[in-house]
Amino acid sequence: MNILLLGSGGREHALAWKIRQSKKTGRLFIAPGNAGTALVGTNVPIAVTDFDKIKDFSLENDIHMVVVGPEDPLVKGIYDYFGNDDALKQIPVIGPSKEGAQLEGSKDFAKAFMMRHQIPTAHYFSVSRDNFQEGLTFLQTLHPPYVLKADGLAAGKGVLILDNLEEAEKELQSMLEGSFGEAGETVVIEEFLKGIECSVFVMTDGKDYKILPVAKDYKRIGEGDTGLNTGGMGAVSPVPFADEDFMKKVEERIVIPTIKGLKNENIDYKGFIFVGLINVGGNPMVIEYNCRMGDPETEVVMPRIQSDFVDLLEGIANENISEKELISDPRTAVTVMLVSKGYPGNYQKNKKISGLGNVENSILFHAGTTEKDGEIVTNGGRVIAVTSYGASKHEALKQSFENAEKIDFEGKYYRKDIGFDL
Ligand code: AMP
Ligand code: GLY
Repeated sequence: MNILLLGSGGREHALAWKIRQSKKTGRLFIAPGNAGTALVGTNVPIAVTDFDKIKDFSLENDIHMVVVGPEDPLVKGIYDYFGNDDALKQIPVIGPSKEGAQLEGSKDFAKAFMMRHQIPTAHYFSVSRDNFQEGLTFLQTLHPPYVLKADGLAAGKGVLILDNLEEAEKELQSMLEGSFGEAGETVVIEEFLKGIECSVFVMTDGKDYKILPVAKDYKRIGEGDTGLNTGGMGAVSPVPFADEDFMKKVEERIVIPTIKGLKNENIDYKGFIFVGLINVGGNPMVIEYNCRMGDPETEVVMPRIQSDFVDLLEGIANENISEKELISDPRTAVTVMLVSKGYPGNYQKNKKISGLGNVENSILFHAGTTEKDGEIVTNGGRVIAVTSYGASKHEALKQSFENAEKIDFEGKYYRKDIGFDL
């Protein structure tokens, strides 16, 4: 089977790495890919939202399945674009319909969906310019800190957590006045939940599902979870507090009602559901849904899947995921993200990366890298994820940190405390 994977980050390298291992995989293309995906497949210079070019490429190269990494093409409707085109409709797209992708594309949609299906989540109120006063009134009923979320996609930057009411009121106003562009035309005001977070990934064919190994990511740039939010600085799987009892609650209270809800509302959803959860006193509450895999969680989740991943993807496409087998590796996997100095603010690109060949007993997943004049250079804020296995979290981390030291590029930075809170 020839597969086209869309995306260019560490998540896509990890997906490509896993897809490559399957006996079912024929040719594997990644659009646009990075220097890491080029090691396991063929990169093609097509943007993930250029649907017309993706169409032409798919037809010319006898593509049998399209796997979508990032949310953008899903929210823009790539599933529907394929489904509505006579030439393309027999090619399955792994990812939800445009409507299903609203679980990530609109926080207001996601909250209303959770309300309709009694899925545990924080109390909220959605505000637009029309009901600003009511929004302020709701805000005043909450206790600090205050959570404000831009409704639309905001590249992971759409959530503000503010310590005092005055500041929150001011921010709410400026969001509605356009500080987040269109994404902030509606703002979800939410009750703050206190607890520790984890990421649960579900593969669904629209009726049945498989829950993938659970992971925890580290979003802040600084050690001890301080400083600005990033795309993610590292991840650990499994997550000790997400034990059998907790995961049973997740399945019964969240996963099953989510999939039933989608089905009952006739929302076409054949892909990944990423449930961002918070453990509030032993009870899982949903912080957010995403319509894709997480990054860098994928860099620990894929290594922990022992089953043939393409077989599972076929289960989504053919609506028989219930017949598929999901076997997890019992070992712990961790990943440590090497980033460019300045990230998540401004940073420089095109820095030569050396020492990749010296790495032993870790898997390197490239995030922001590219090849230039025969050398691998940095091409993004997050550069390379160093993934290792271990009998324990400590053992795996030791391995990743050792190898992180062997890789060099100007301005390299990484967090040395991944997993500190587990
Ligand atoms: P998101 O962009 O939705 O992933 O939110 C970013 C981060 O904000 C989450 O990972 C949480 O750490 C935090 N967050 C979002 N909503 C809440 C909430 N209701 N209570 C506490 N923290 C939250
Ligand atoms: N690591 C969180 C995300 O992918 O959104």
